[in-house]
Amino acid sequence: MESGRNIGPVILLGPPGAGKGTQAKVVARRFGIPQISTGDILRDNVAHGTDLGLQAKAIMGRGELVPDNLVCDMVASRLREADCERGFILDGFPRTAAQAGWLDAFLESEVYEGKERCGAPIVISLKVDYNEVLRRLAGRRSCPTCGQIYNSNSHPAQVRGVCDKDGSELIVRKDDREDVVRERLRVYENQTRPVIDYYRSKDRLYEVDGLKEVEEVSRDIAAVIEQAAGMQKQIARS
Ligand code: AP5
Repeated sequence: MESGRNIGPVILLGPPGAGKGTQAKVVARRFGIPQISTGDILRDNVAHGTDLGLQAKAIMGRGELVPDNLVCDMVASRLREADCERGFILDGFPRTAAQAGWLDAFLESEVYEGKERCGAPIVISLKVDYNEVLRRLAGRRSCPTCGQIYNSNSHPAQVRGVCDKDGSELIVRKDDREDVVRERLRVYENQTRPVIDYYRSKDRLYEVDGLKEVEEVSRDIAAVIEQAAGMQKQIARS
Protein backbone atom coordinates (compact mmCIF):
# COMPACT_ATOMS: atom_id res chain seq x y z
CA MET A 1 0.00 0.00 0.00
CA GLU A 2 1.24 3.49 -0.80
CA SER A 3 0.67 6.66 1.19
CA GLY A 4 1.31 10.37 0.74
CA ARG A 5 0.43 10.83 -2.93
CA ASN A 6 -2.74 12.71 -3.90
CA ILE A 7 -4.95 10.45 -6.01
CA GLY A 8 -8.12 12.55 -5.90
CA PRO A 9 -11.64 11.22 -6.30
CA VAL A 10 -12.11 7.97 -8.18
CA ILE A 11 -15.61 6.85 -9.23
CA LEU A 12 -16.38 3.25 -10.13
CA LEU A 13 -19.54 2.78 -12.20
CA GLY A 14 -21.20 -0.36 -13.53
CA PRO A 15 -24.33 -2.47 -13.23
CA PRO A 16 -25.14 -4.56 -10.15
CA GLY A 17 -22.66 -7.43 -9.96
CA ALA A 18 -20.12 -5.78 -12.29
CA GLY A 19 -17.44 -6.12 -9.62
CA LYS A 20 -17.44 -2.57 -8.21
CA GLY A 21 -17.15 -3.68 -4.58
CA THR A 22 -14.50 -6.30 -5.38
CA GLN A 23 -12.37 -3.82 -7.34
CA ALA A 24 -12.93 -0.82 -5.03
CA LYS A 25 -11.39 -2.81 -2.18
CA VAL A 26 -8.30 -3.53 -4.31
CA VAL A 27 -7.94 0.14 -5.31
CA ALA A 28 -8.37 1.25 -1.68
CA ARG A 29 -5.58 -1.10 -0.54
CA ARG A 30 -3.27 -0.34 -3.45
CA PHE A 31 -3.50 3.46 -3.31
CA GLY A 32 -4.14 3.85 0.44
CA ILE A 33 -7.44 5.69 0.02
CA PRO A 34 -10.83 4.85 1.61
CA GLN A 35 -13.53 2.89 -0.21
CA ILE A 36 -16.88 4.64 0.10
CA SER A 37 -19.66 2.24 -0.83
CA THR A 38 -23.10 3.80 -0.52
CA GLY A 39 -24.65 0.31 -0.58
CA ASP A 40 -22.47 -0.81 2.38
CA ILE A 41 -23.20 2.36 4.37
CA LEU A 42 -26.95 1.99 3.74
CA ARG A 43 -26.89 -1.73 4.68
CA ASP A 44 -25.02 -0.81 7.88
CA ASN A 45 -27.73 1.75 8.70
CA VAL A 46 -30.43 -0.86 8.05
CA ALA A 47 -28.62 -3.38 10.30
CA HIS A 48 -28.36 -0.82 13.11
CA GLY A 49 -31.96 0.42 12.71
CA THR A 50 -31.01 4.10 12.34
CA ASP A 51 -33.55 6.63 11.00
CA LEU A 52 -31.86 6.46 7.60
CA GLY A 53 -31.86 2.65 7.73
CA LEU A 54 -35.58 2.58 8.55
CA GLN A 55 -36.31 4.82 5.57
CA ALA A 56 -34.06 2.84 3.23
CA LYS A 57 -34.89 -0.76 4.19
CA ALA A 58 -38.05 -1.38 2.15
CA ILE A 59 -36.75 0.61 -0.84
CA MET A 60 -33.56 -1.45 -0.99
CA GLY A 61 -35.55 -4.66 -0.53
CA ARG A 62 -37.47 -3.82 -3.71
CA GLY A 63 -34.28 -3.01 -5.64
CA GLU A 64 -35.18 0.67 -6.07
CA LEU A 65 -33.00 3.68 -5.34
CA VAL A 66 -32.99 5.50 -2.01
CA PRO A 67 -33.99 9.17 -2.55
CA ASP A 68 -31.18 11.45 -3.77
CA ASN A 69 -31.38 13.88 -0.83
CA LEU A 70 -30.85 11.12 1.77
CA VAL A 71 -27.93 9.57 -0.12
CA CYS A 72 -26.23 12.91 -0.91
CA ASP A 73 -26.38 14.01 2.77
CA MET A 74 -24.88 10.66 3.77
CA VAL A 75 -22.07 10.98 1.20
CA ALA A 76 -21.38 14.61 2.18
CA SER A 77 -20.74 13.66 5.82
CA ARG A 78 -18.45 10.81 4.79
CA LEU A 79 -16.43 12.91 2.31
CA ARG A 80 -15.81 15.55 5.00
CA GLU A 81 -13.89 13.03 7.10
CA ALA A 82 -10.13 13.54 7.29
CA ASP A 83 -9.18 10.25 5.61
CA CYS A 84 -10.67 11.51 2.29
CA GLU A 85 -8.19 14.39 1.89
CA ARG A 86 -5.74 12.53 -0.42
CA GLY A 87 -8.53 10.89 -2.38
CA PHE A 88 -11.23 8.24 -2.12
CA ILE A 89 -12.99 5.69 -4.28
CA LEU A 90 -16.76 5.90 -4.62
CA ASP A 91 -18.51 2.60 -5.31
CA GLY A 92 -22.25 2.83 -6.03
CA PHE A 93 -22.35 6.64 -6.20
CA PRO A 94 -23.37 8.68 -8.17
CA ARG A 95 -26.28 6.64 -9.46
CA THR A 96 -28.59 9.29 -10.89
CA ALA A 97 -27.93 12.37 -13.02
CA ALA A 98 -28.98 14.49 -10.02
CA GLN A 99 -26.38 12.77 -7.79
CA ALA A 100 -23.67 13.32 -10.43
CA GLY A 101 -24.49 17.04 -10.66
CA TRP A 102 -24.58 17.29 -6.87
CA LEU A 103 -21.15 15.61 -6.59
CA ASP A 104 -19.52 17.98 -9.08
CA ALA A 105 -20.86 20.98 -7.15
CA PHE A 106 -19.77 19.45 -3.82
CA LEU A 107 -16.22 18.69 -5.01
CA GLU A 108 -15.90 22.18 -6.44
CA SER A 109 -17.15 23.94 -3.32
CA GLU A 110 -15.90 21.85 -0.41
CA VAL A 111 -13.28 19.21 -0.89
CA TYR A 112 -10.75 21.36 -2.69
CA GLU A 113 -11.42 24.67 -0.99
CA GLY A 114 -8.13 26.05 0.27
CA LYS A 115 -6.30 22.79 -0.50
CA GLU A 116 -4.02 21.68 -3.29
CA ARG A 117 -6.24 20.69 -6.18
CA CYS A 118 -5.89 17.05 -7.03
CA GLY A 119 -8.06 17.13 -10.12
CA ALA A 120 -11.49 16.21 -11.39
CA PRO A 121 -12.81 12.73 -10.59
CA ILE A 122 -11.33 9.78 -12.46
CA VAL A 123 -14.46 7.96 -13.64
CA ILE A 124 -14.19 4.27 -14.52
CA SER A 125 -17.04 2.27 -15.98
CA LEU A 126 -16.85 -1.53 -15.66
CA LYS A 127 -18.42 -3.16 -18.70
CA VAL A 128 -20.13 -6.51 -18.06
CA ASP A 129 -23.08 -8.06 -19.90
CA TYR A 130 -26.30 -8.90 -18.08
CA ASN A 131 -26.01 -12.70 -18.44
CA GLU A 132 -22.71 -12.56 -16.58
CA VAL A 133 -24.22 -10.23 -13.95
CA LEU A 134 -27.04 -12.70 -13.27
CA ARG A 135 -24.54 -15.55 -13.00
CA ARG A 136 -22.30 -13.61 -10.62
CA LEU A 137 -25.08 -12.39 -8.33
CA ALA A 138 -26.57 -15.88 -8.06
CA GLY A 139 -23.24 -17.07 -6.60
CA ARG A 140 -22.30 -14.04 -4.47
CA ARG A 141 -21.61 -14.60 -0.78
CA SER A 142 -20.46 -11.80 1.57
CA CYS A 143 -18.91 -11.60 5.00
CA PRO A 144 -21.21 -9.63 7.34
CA THR A 145 -18.22 -8.76 9.56
CA CYS A 146 -15.41 -7.58 7.25
CA GLY A 147 -17.32 -7.14 3.95
CA GLN A 148 -15.08 -9.52 1.98
CA ILE A 149 -16.87 -10.67 -1.21
CA TYR A 150 -16.81 -14.27 -2.47
CA ASN A 151 -18.49 -16.23 -5.24
CA SER A 152 -19.53 -19.83 -4.77
CA ASN A 153 -18.79 -20.47 -8.48
CA SER A 154 -15.73 -18.39 -9.34
CA HIS A 155 -14.13 -17.26 -6.02
CA PRO A 156 -15.22 -19.60 -3.23
CA ALA A 157 -14.04 -19.31 0.36
CA GLN A 158 -11.43 -21.90 1.38
CA VAL A 159 -13.97 -23.47 3.75
CA ARG A 160 -17.44 -23.46 2.23
CA GLY A 161 -19.67 -20.76 3.78
CA VAL A 162 -16.97 -19.36 6.10
CA CYS A 163 -14.95 -16.12 5.67
CA ASP A 164 -11.22 -16.78 5.09
CA LYS A 165 -10.31 -13.62 6.99
CA ASP A 166 -12.34 -13.76 10.20
CA GLY A 167 -14.27 -17.04 10.25
CA SER A 168 -17.74 -15.40 10.10
CA GLU A 169 -20.58 -17.29 8.43
CA LEU A 170 -21.06 -15.93 4.91
CA ILE A 171 -24.45 -14.51 3.92
CA VAL A 172 -26.50 -14.08 0.72
CA ARG A 173 -27.60 -10.46 0.25
CA LYS A 174 -31.39 -10.05 0.49
CA ASP A 175 -31.50 -8.09 -2.76
CA ASP A 176 -29.74 -10.88 -4.71
CA ARG A 177 -33.06 -12.74 -5.20
CA GLU A 178 -33.63 -13.08 -8.94
CA ASP A 179 -36.79 -10.90 -9.08
CA VAL A 180 -35.03 -8.11 -7.14
CA VAL A 181 -31.92 -8.38 -9.32
CA ARG A 182 -34.09 -7.89 -12.43
CA GLU A 183 -35.58 -4.74 -10.88
CA ARG A 184 -32.07 -3.47 -9.97
CA LEU A 185 -31.00 -3.96 -13.59
CA ARG A 186 -34.10 -2.11 -14.83
CA VAL A 187 -33.36 0.76 -12.44
CA TYR A 188 -29.72 0.76 -13.61
CA GLU A 189 -30.77 1.09 -17.26
CA ASN A 190 -33.25 3.89 -16.57
CA GLN A 191 -31.49 5.92 -13.89
CA THR A 192 -27.77 5.11 -13.83
CA ARG A 193 -26.99 4.68 -17.54
CA PRO A 194 -27.48 8.49 -17.95
CA VAL A 195 -24.68 9.02 -15.39
CA ILE A 196 -22.27 7.22 -17.75
CA ASP A 197 -23.45 9.45 -20.60
CA TYR A 198 -22.98 12.51 -18.35
CA TYR A 199 -19.30 11.72 -17.68
CA ARG A 200 -18.70 10.66 -21.29
CA SER A 201 -20.02 14.03 -22.47
CA LYS A 202 -17.51 15.71 -20.12
CA ASP A 203 -14.71 13.56 -21.57
CA ARG A 204 -13.95 12.06 -18.16
CA LEU A 205 -15.01 8.45 -18.73
CA TYR A 206 -12.63 5.49 -18.89
CA GLU A 207 -14.11 2.10 -19.83
CA VAL A 208 -12.64 -1.13 -18.49
CA ASP A 209 -13.59 -4.67 -19.55
CA GLY A 210 -15.10 -6.18 -16.39
CA LEU A 211 -15.43 -9.65 -17.93
CA LYS A 212 -11.76 -10.49 -17.45
CA GLU A 213 -10.37 -12.30 -14.39
CA VAL A 214 -10.47 -10.24 -11.16
CA GLU A 215 -6.67 -9.72 -11.14
CA GLU A 216 -6.63 -8.57 -14.78
CA VAL A 217 -9.45 -6.09 -14.16
CA SER A 218 -7.52 -4.79 -11.11
CA ARG A 219 -4.42 -4.28 -13.27
CA ASP A 220 -6.42 -2.40 -15.93
CA ILE A 221 -8.07 -0.15 -13.33
CA ALA A 222 -4.73 0.62 -11.65
CA ALA A 223 -3.26 1.55 -15.06
CA VAL A 224 -6.16 3.93 -15.74
CA ILE A 225 -5.75 5.61 -12.33
CA GLU A 226 -1.98 5.97 -12.77
CA GLN A 227 -2.43 7.45 -16.25
CA ALA A 228 -5.27 9.83 -15.28
CA ALA A 229 -3.64 10.96 -12.01
CA GLY A 230 -0.37 11.60 -13.89
CA MET A 231 -2.13 13.66 -16.55
CA GLN A 232 -3.90 15.75 -13.91
CA LYS A 233 -0.59 16.45 -12.16
CA GLN A 234 0.90 17.72 -15.43
CA ILE A 235 -2.14 19.97 -16.02
CA ALA A 236 -1.86 21.34 -12.45
CA ARG A 237 1.86 22.17 -13.01
CA SER A 238 1.36 23.91 -16.36
P1 AP5 B 1 -25.06 -1.58 -3.98
O1 AP5 B 1 -24.63 -2.27 -2.76
O2 AP5 B 1 -24.27 -0.43 -4.49
O3 AP5 B 1 -25.30 -2.67 -5.10
P2 AP5 B 1 -25.05 -2.66 -6.69
O4 AP5 B 1 -24.60 -1.40 -7.32
O5 AP5 B 1 -26.30 -3.24 -7.22
O6 AP5 B 1 -23.79 -3.49 -6.85
P3 AP5 B 1 -23.45 -4.83 -6.19
O7 AP5 B 1 -22.92 -4.60 -4.81
O8 AP5 B 1 -24.60 -5.79 -6.31
O9 AP5 B 1 -22.35 -5.41 -7.17
P4 AP5 B 1 -20.83 -5.00 -7.40
O10 AP5 B 1 -20.70 -4.30 -8.70
O11 AP5 B 1 -20.27 -4.32 -6.18
O12 AP5 B 1 -20.22 -6.46 -7.57
P5 AP5 B 1 -19.34 -7.35 -6.56
O13 AP5 B 1 -17.96 -6.80 -6.46
O14 AP5 B 1 -20.08 -7.60 -5.28
O15 AP5 B 1 -26.56 -1.01 -3.79
C1 AP5 B 1 -27.55 -1.78 -3.14
C2 AP5 B 1 -28.81 -0.93 -2.97
O16 AP5 B 1 -28.53 0.20 -2.12
C3 AP5 B 1 -29.38 -0.30 -4.27
O17 AP5 B 1 -30.22 -1.20 -4.96
C4 AP5 B 1 -30.13 0.91 -3.71
O18 AP5 B 1 -31.37 0.54 -3.14
C5 AP5 B 1 -29.21 1.38 -2.58
N1 AP5 B 1 -28.22 2.36 -3.03
C6 AP5 B 1 -26.86 2.20 -3.04
N2 AP5 B 1 -26.27 3.29 -3.52
C7 AP5 B 1 -27.25 4.17 -3.83
C8 AP5 B 1 -27.26 5.47 -4.40
N3 AP5 B 1 -26.12 6.09 -4.76
N4 AP5 B 1 -28.45 6.08 -4.59
C9 AP5 B 1 -29.60 5.47 -4.24
N5 AP5 B 1 -29.67 4.24 -3.70
C10 AP5 B 1 -28.49 3.58 -3.51
O19 AP5 B 1 -19.26 -8.72 -7.41
C11 AP5 B 1 -20.42 -9.49 -7.63
C12 AP5 B 1 -20.03 -10.99 -7.64
O20 AP5 B 1 -19.19 -11.24 -8.77
C13 AP5 B 1 -19.21 -11.43 -6.41
O21 AP5 B 1 -19.60 -12.71 -6.04
C14 AP5 B 1 -17.75 -11.42 -6.90
O22 AP5 B 1 -16.96 -12.37 -6.24
C15 AP5 B 1 -17.92 -11.77 -8.39
N6 AP5 B 1 -16.91 -11.14 -9.25
C16 AP5 B 1 -16.46 -9.86 -9.18
N7 AP5 B 1 -15.58 -9.62 -10.18
C17 AP5 B 1 -15.50 -10.77 -10.91
C18 AP5 B 1 -14.76 -11.15 -12.08
N8 AP5 B 1 -13.94 -10.29 -12.70
N9 AP5 B 1 -14.95 -12.40 -12.56
C19 AP5 B 1 -15.80 -13.28 -11.95
N10 AP5 B 1 -16.51 -12.98 -10.82
C20 AP5 B 1 -16.36 -11.74 -10.32
